[in-house]
Amino acid sequence: MINRAFTVAIDGPAAAGKGTVSRAIAAHFGFAHLDTGLLYRATGLRTLDGTEAVEAARALRASDLDDDDALRTPDVAQAASRVAALPDVRAALVDFQRAFARRGGGAVLDGRDIGTVICPDADVKLYVTASDEVRAERRHRELCGKGHEVTREQVLADLRSRDERDSARAAAPLKPAPDAIQLDTSEMSIEDAVAAAIAEVAQRIDSA
Ligand code: DC
Repeated sequence: MINRAFTVAIDGPAAAGKGTVSRAIAAHFGFAHLDTGLLYRATGLRTLDGTEAVEAARALRASDLDDDDALRTPDVAQAASRVAALPDVRAALVDFQRAFARRGGGAVLDGRDIGTVICPDADVKLYVTASDEVRAERRHRELCGKGHEVTREQVLADLRSRDERDSARAAAPLKPAPDAIQLDTSEMSIEDAVAAAIAEVAQRIDSA
């Protein structure tokens, strides 16, 4: 346990393993975890019902992040990526994320702009990547396991179009912070990726 605020920022493209690594770090060190993609997914989900995006972002409640199955569909992922390109949507979600990051006892936030925009002073920054094919394979397995009928090719196309939109947008695009540690998980087992990430955080805690 750690008594002060200690922030771990984890960014990277879709399905690179950020979620797994973040949850493992949170569990290992007793930190709180926020998957910031859920904020954009919950906003995107509302827009599919016809709600205007900025209004949807401003009206978000913590309980909107609870319905994991509804938020983790391919349609909602695309809607999330679209609303995430709107600067006013992003602005509406900043305070919540920064307050979460500053809480005592340690926090892990994963997303696209955590190390660059939300927490530029984070204690540890990781940028988790994997090849397109590996990411598509992992996400395809995950979606099939939840009963979604999608092909691996559809998943690959979805990931690529989201990455392109997330990287090309003007507002807080997906990119590594200059001081981020890069972790390419293409050839790594989950256990090895998690162990490498935990080792980086442990080293920073020791030297802090
Ligand atoms: O991490 P995810 O796949 O659940 O994120 C869904 C979308 O939300 C992603 O395509 C881009 C957007 N997003 C973002 O722009 N900034 C973040 N910090 C997190 C997610």
